[in-house]
Amino acid sequence: MFENYQIPSELIPSDPRFGSGPSLVPVQYLKALAETGVNLIGTSHRKPAVKNLVKEVQEGLAKYFNLPSDYSVVLGNGGATFLFDSIGLGLVEKKSVHYTCGEFSSKWYKAHNRVPWIDAEEVSVDFGQGIAIENRSDADMICCTLNETSTGVIVTDFPEVDGNTILAVDATSGGGQVPCDLSKIDLYFFGPQKVFASEGGLWIAIMSPKARERALKIAADDSRYVPDIMNWKTAIDNSDKNQTYNTPSISTFFFLNETLKDMNKVGYEGVQKESQRKADLVYGWAEEKDYLSPYIQEAKYRSTAVATIDVDDKIDTAALIKKLDSEKAVFNIDAYRKLGRNQFRIALFHNISFADLEKLTKLISHAIENQ
Ligand SMILES: Cc1ncc(COP(=O)(O)O)c(C=O)c1O
Repeated sequence: MFENYQIPSELIPSDPRFGSGPSLVPVQYLKALAETGVNLIGTSHRKPAVKNLVKEVQEGLAKYFNLPSDYSVVLGNGGATFLFDSIGLGLVEKKSVHYTCGEFSSKWYKAHNRVPWIDAEEVSVDFGQGIAIENRSDADMICCTLNETSTGVIVTDFPEVDGNTILAVDATSGGGQVPCDLSKIDLYFFGPQKVFASEGGLWIAIMSPKARERALKIAADDSRYVPDIMNWKTAIDNSDKNQTYNTPSISTFFFLNETLKDMNKVGYEGVQKESQRKADLVYGWAEEKDYLSPYIQEAKYRSTAVATIDVDDKIDTAALIKKLDSEKAVFNIDAYRKLGRNQFRIALFHNISFADLEKLTKLISHAIENQ
């Protein structure tokens, strides 16, 4: 199937990268990085060139999300997965409740569940279902995932939580694009390799005063052992000085800053509107074609960052994906590997253009209808 299919040149997207992470880093950013020559890469992260870049990123995020002035932008190395453990170790007092609907939200739950002193509770739905997040007075942290990347489900409503409860959101693949009022969230964290079109390895945690206070309180508790690399006070102190505790990838900051400059020109609301337009295009296409259907049944939970589209079993999606990949026309639109569905998973991230998504949908249909 598809071996002899000829791709019409007018349907080839201008950039083949539609993966859900790492995402498309614009080629002009790569060129801009090369132009920094000897002045940035390979210089110390304790000196002005890099510290000013980190500061610009922190300020760019504060502006983009319209953060309250008492919120902190904290950064460190290790990516979002690292935070699954360090949030458990350094931010939960006794009990966390996890709303899970896919691989990443479950992984976070499992990380807390392994910490001996945490009572971690999982509230879950089957893969493909959306989940409603509720306050729980018996927990000191509520954990949810803004965009469950494995299934393409978003959280649409956030509860008001009790005074001593931290509302924590893993925003890794939806952060910056899926609607969320950060002034209602205590801990909003992500790696910048998705919507923010940078590379992996960094984590960013936007913290309310309540979350910051909790972090400092637990860090001061000598009876709890937390490895230095996961110490929240150390991360906060360094971030307040526009640094990370240990050596970061400077190019990651550079790409993130370039994206933030671009995204701040459009604004958070503008980016949300544009991603809704992309989502309408892709889900509309899936509803129109009789061999496609959106995987997420309930429309309000369908992601505006990562679209999951089921395909009729008669069509060999793996063969089509292989063909498009071998021709360097389209990369990484396979379903999340553990989901094991005959499915396309297509990122709708800010740096993926509407015009390219239009071409992609037309190309897939053309291939299926003409093979
Ligand atoms: C929702 C979500 N959380 C966490 C992660 C893990 O991120 P990292 O690779 O930065 O550890 C991912 C990665 O895809 C993700 O999609």
